[in-house]
Amino acid sequence: MERTGKAKIIRTTVQMQQWSEQVQKQGETICLVPTMGYFHQGHLSLMDAGKSVADHLVVSLFVNPTQFGANEDFGAYPKNFDRDFNLAESRGAAVVFAPDSGEIYPPGFQTSVVLSELPRNLCGLSRPVHFQGVATVVTKLFNIVKPRIAVFGCKDYQQLQVIRQLVKDLNFNIIIMGAPIVREVDGLAMSSRNVYLSPDERKSALSLSSALTLAERMIKQGETRCKPILAAVTALILDHRDTRIDYATLCDPETLNAVDTITSPVLLALAVKVGTTRLIDNRVIDPGQ
Ligand code: PAJ
Repeated sequence: MERTGKAKIIRTTVQMQQWSEQVQKQGETICLVPTMGYFHQGHLSLMDAGKSVADHLVVSLFVNPTQFGANEDFGAYPKNFDRDFNLAESRGAAVVFAPDSGEIYPPGFQTSVVLSELPRNLCGLSRPVHFQGVATVVTKLFNIVKPRIAVFGCKDYQQLQVIRQLVKDLNFNIIIMGAPIVREVDGLAMSSRNVYLSPDERKSALSLSSALTLAERMIKQGETRCKPILAAVTALILDHRDTRIDYATLCDPETLNAVDTITSPVLLALAVKVGTTRLIDNRVIDPGQ
């Protein structure tokens, strides 16, 4: 393939498929980083990881309407295409695939990808349509971009598990890479939604990463009962202004089913509303280390 150092913008599924087929014909590999844009260092770290493992990096940028509930922030989701395009190009993307909604969901569209177990936990409980929307759009992106590898962040841990499961269940020949959570220096997990936070809310948002650290300390000190750990986590979060806990759950890192007693690595997953902004964070904690 011709390498100009310039990224290409592709807006239609047909052009994207043609580009990918060209690449495949030459025996070269594609890594896909799916995003909804408004890039921060977390997104860029995924692109860097993707760039290093395949011949071509494709970044998709699509704010997927079907993964937002009726009362969620689809209409307000932050956007800055020019900035995003330049950032993706600077990270070595060959293509930024940025379709519009009608291209992904044309009139008459009626097929969805639904997982029966994983969405019954964590975010799936308060966001009932979310993972169906994610699984459907990611399946479509896999078929359109035809990557050999795709990178997802551990920040959205449940999403990563959903994708791993659908790749296995639907026999996609795609390697899924999980990339570590990128944080601000004070510990706040980077998120496109952090721009919604007022200065006071920004302080309260730190309660999530502080709670993860507190729980980790308790587990490392030998606490195996989830009840007192979750009580301490809840108290710490609610001690911050304007916080409302959606969930604070200790669960199995694979199945995401809640656990009572910690005998092996456990996932602490948090979703907290700070003001009107819903934030998530998580950590896998190994009691043996
Ligand atoms: P978006 O929220 O834009 O996130 C795109 C990718 O960036 C996801 O894999 C997410 O886990 C990762 N990411 C976000 N914040 C991160 C952080 N602080 N550190 C590391 N990685 C981070 O997730 C989505 O978009 C959508 O659901 C999508 C998969 C594109 C489907 O529409």
